[in-house]
Amino acid sequence: DTPLRGLAEAKGKVMGTAVTGSKLTGTYGEIAAREFNWLTPGNAMKWGSVEPSRGTYNWAEADRIVDFAETHGQQVRGHTLLWHQQNPGWLTNGSWTKDRLSTVVQDHIATEVGRYKGRVAAWDVVNEPFDEDGTYRPTLFRTTLGQDYIAQALTWARAADPGAKLYINDYNVEGVNAKSTALYDLVKSLKERGVPIDGVGLQAHLIVGQVPSTLRQNIQRFADLGVDVAITELDIRMQLPATQAKLTQQAADYRAVLNACVAVARCTGVTVWGFTDSDSWIPDTFPGQGAATPYDENYQPKPAYHAIAEALGGT
Ligand code: G3I
Repeated sequence: DTPLRGLAEAKGKVMGTAVTGSKLTGTYGEIAAREFNWLTPGNAMKWGSVEPSRGTYNWAEADRIVDFAETHGQQVRGHTLLWHQQNPGWLTNGSWTKDRLSTVVQDHIATEVGRYKGRVAAWDVVNEPFDEDGTYRPTLFRTTLGQDYIAQALTWARAADPGAKLYINDYNVEGVNAKSTALYDLVKSLKERGVPIDGVGLQAHLIVGQVPSTLRQNIQRFADLGVDVAITELDIRMQLPATQAKLTQQAADYRAVLNACVAVARCTGVTVWGFTDSDSWIPDTFPGQGAATPYDENYQPKPAYHAIAEALGGT
């Protein structure tokens, strides 16, 4: 059977997974290398991971993932430069003037993007900038730097690596709704102003049986704006225990997401947020829920795996 990465490549798509650097050995490493042609560090490139104390950097896990990717002919999605979570304490607890925070943010972007210049194909420059009603989330960045912090971050990222694709990434923006429309309006205005923006990431943390019916239409409207679309963090959770019926529905849901991406030329591909249930954020965050990924905890492919393969033209 052809691995997912080969099937995706034949369709002109990418197939990615989030990974944990310390696990990239043994069976986990074998599957990550064999099945996927894009990797996203699940945590290793976040600000709190790379600069835990101000001016003291820890690139070990991020480097390990980038090295692994290069060894296995994979591309890397950098995740993420500006987010309201997993920031270092010195940043969140600091009291910032606009000018000083602006300098620190610019330096952070220049340092991290610059370090991986030419080795990270795409960056999630800004992660989760919107609230559910489509207003800007009142993060440290938004409240201190003002609404234009997104345009500035994109501009600084472009300067640090002109070859990297620059994305804004968010969740609950898979279907057409108030939040995805706010993202749409933002991207439209950035394009009109000539701000560098190459794509939008639809995270796609979904629930079994609840793939938005407007997913394809939503992907298409972003594509029509002239940007790429990537499904960046796909997982489809269920109430445990996983039954055959739920796993069958989950496979249909994975198939629906893959089909929507395959149907739109500017959808670059799909990244799953962890490929195995043993490496998923769901059980920690949603007690009683899980089984959200294509492989079970013992690295056995689930019906969802086969659905992805079929949607990519496999048998
Ligand atoms: O590394 C420490 C470890 O030393 C400690 O013993 C352990 C005890 O709690 O915590 C470990 O850190 C955890 C980290 O994941 C690594 O496992 C954090 O507590 C935990 O909060 C963190 O969760 C991550 C989460 O982002 C934070 O919000 C998940 O792994 C990660 O998958 C998740 O990813 C996000 C995307 O970046 C953005 N979109 C949503 C997505 C899911 O929340």
